[in-house]
Amino acid sequence: QFMSEIMGLTVLENRIKETLQVENVIVVPGNSDDAEWVKQEMGKACVSYLKKIISPNATIAVTGGTTMASVASVMTPFELENNCLFVPARGGIGEKMENQANTIVAQMSRKAQGDYRLLYVPDPISDSSYQNIIQEPSIIEVLQLIKNADIVLHGIGDALTMAERRKTPHELREKLVEENAVSEAFGYYFDQQGNVVHKVRTVGLQLEDLESMKHVVTVAGGKSKAKAIESYFKHGTSNVLITDEAAAEQILRDT
Ligand code: BG6
Repeated sequence: QFMSEIMGLTVLENRIKETLQVENVIVVPGNSDDAEWVKQEMGKACVSYLKKIISPNATIAVTGGTTMASVASVMTPFELENNCLFVPARGGIGEKMENQANTIVAQMSRKAQGDYRLLYVPDPISDSSYQNIIQEPSIIEVLQLIKNADIVLHGIGDALTMAERRKTPHELREKLVEENAVSEAFGYYFDQQGNVVHKVRTVGLQLEDLESMKHVVTVAGGKSKAKAIESYFKHGTSNVLITDEAAAEQILRDT
């Protein structure tokens, strides 16, 4: 029984690799829409994966969200010589405290026995504040660390769920509906073909920065996120998708 379950997941992983055209896929059992422990299983898979790819003194940029919060909750120390640094991928004030990247990197670094830096910037930010804030020396310093990160850990959200969670103004939500936004990652909203239909003005990692990263690790699961995952992977940069069985099965059904 157990072996056949493992075999089943390996088959799923290989089919998702082909369908989404991604180098690595890890599928954990269950559906994280229904059970919190499934998110933690994705978190554990993410921590094991990190341990395989991490190099000494690596900088790890992390986004916000409940999935990343689960990764933080199951983080364990790296090897002693691995003095890693965690930074938030973007300024994330606006979401609930426990879902903000700042909170998550602080917890991750404590559990991994590494260091962290924070980025206290509203997200989204107005144009005039943006122009000023990116000239602050303390912000410039953290931004440098973010842009030169070795590893990025990020979640993917369902577009309208994220718009709601961020208390997005009504007009913008209508625009997202009109433009058929399906997924959200890094403050960008994508349609089913993976085209960017809207971008939130944020300080921090931009989509084009991903191209120079050594490792982009995507963690997203739950049947309800299948479409969002497909959409991000149409053009999105990622070396590995860590997901759950319910999302994986739905992705295969959709395609
Ligand atoms: C947000 C990130 O905080 O979390 C988003 O900024 C991401 O980019 C989202 O899409 C995912 O959230 P969750 O709770 O579904 O893991």
